[in-house]
Amino acid sequence: MKVLKYALLAAVGCLTFGLGSPSFAQQSAGDAARGKDKYMAVGCFTCHGRSGQGGALNYPAPALVDLPMPADALAAFLRNPVGDMPPYAAAVLSNADVADVLSFIKSLPGRKDPKTFPLLNQ
Ligand code: HEC
Repeated sequence: MKVLKYALLAAVGCLTFGLGSPSFAQQSAGDAARGKDKYMAVGCFTCHGRSGQGGALNYPAPALVDLPMPADALAAFLRNPVGDMPPYAAAVLSNADVADVLSFIKSLPGRKDPKTFPLLNQ
């Protein structure tokens, strides 16, 4: 089901951004450090956590680590989100910014295995 959702978002992304416009293929090598600044500045962290671990609102805000979305699908989603997720217009977060944010999300290590915490193994 999720895969279908992302495929749909990718399709919407292609339609929205057009194949002729400067494409994500050229921009998709985002800058993770800039992406982190954006992620903090526009407030993604308030709901999805500083480490992309997710959080709780009226219902859970999903974890973003291991996000399987390509940049165009993420941009399409951010412009037109669902549920409690607020929209981010291109004026607030440009397509290049989205690529940077995605790059930051991809750099996140995810949850650690509890077995790697010495204190929890005593
Ligand atoms: C006010 C809280 C809030 C903020 C701020 C917010 N989100 Fe979300 N986000 C949500 C919620 C809640 C959902 C789940 C929406 C649903 O499925 O109903 C969500 C869903 C998502 C999803 C889909 C994840 C999935 O697995 O389906 C992505 C990707 C995402 N947000 C990225 C971002 C990014 C990037 C930012 C910053 C630019 C951001 N969000 C800012 C609350 C927020």
